[in-house]
Amino acid sequence: MDAVALLIADHNRVRGLFARYEEAHDNENVDEAAKLVAKIVEDLDVHTTIEEEVFYPAIHELKEDIAESVDEGVEEHHVAKILIKELDSLSPTDGSWTAKVTVLIESVEHHVDEEEEQLIPHVRGASNAAWLKVLAGKLEAKQKRSSALRFLPTRSIWRSPNSRPWPGPSRSRVGLQWIKNSWQRRFRPRSWGHLRSGSVGSVLLRELTR
Ligand SMILES: [Fe+2]
Ligand SMILES: [Fe+2]
Repeated sequence: MDAVALLIADHNRVRGLFARYEEAHDNENVDEAAKLVAKIVEDLDVHTTIEEEVFYPAIHELKEDIAESVDEGVEEHHVAKILIKELDSLSPTDGSWTAKVTVLIESVEHHVDEEEEQLIPHVRGASNAAWLKVLAGKLEAKQKRSSALRFLPTRSIWRSPNSRPWPGPSRSRVGLQWIKNSWQRRFRPRSWGHLRSGSVGSVLLRELTR
């Protein structure tokens, strides 16, 4: 699988989740709809991370019109992230929750269609199979690291549809930071310097503290 095929597979997976969400919404199954939105948010988090940190920087210098598409793509990711953040403060039973999910789905569908119809053909034309294969390896590595940090559920999963919104900061990274702080309070290590460079512990710590 090359880099482009990997990203398109991600797009198709999230399109499948959108279809399942719409079915749950049509059937007024709020619990299922909330679970699917939590999964959509997790998948989008990893996908936008690997694009912004690996794919976009790699292709940005290939051609001028690719650079313009990349800049536009970053802004479209930004819009999706704002909607996701706003969803975090709402319950699935709030009227605006459904409206925001609908706008999120529509904007992501527009974004992935544009990537596939405009950006990706340009990237294929400006690169070669070997280069795209090497890039796939980097995307997969980043995907694994980002997925590993998702083991704590997002607030959407913690919250039942009828509960009140949790007013604190969101995102699993905050939960990981809380675990780190609790660990330090309990064991009072002098430093984290004993962690071997490149070890799982050091990667986790770097992700937690950046
Ligand atoms: Fe994207
Ligand atoms: Fe994408």
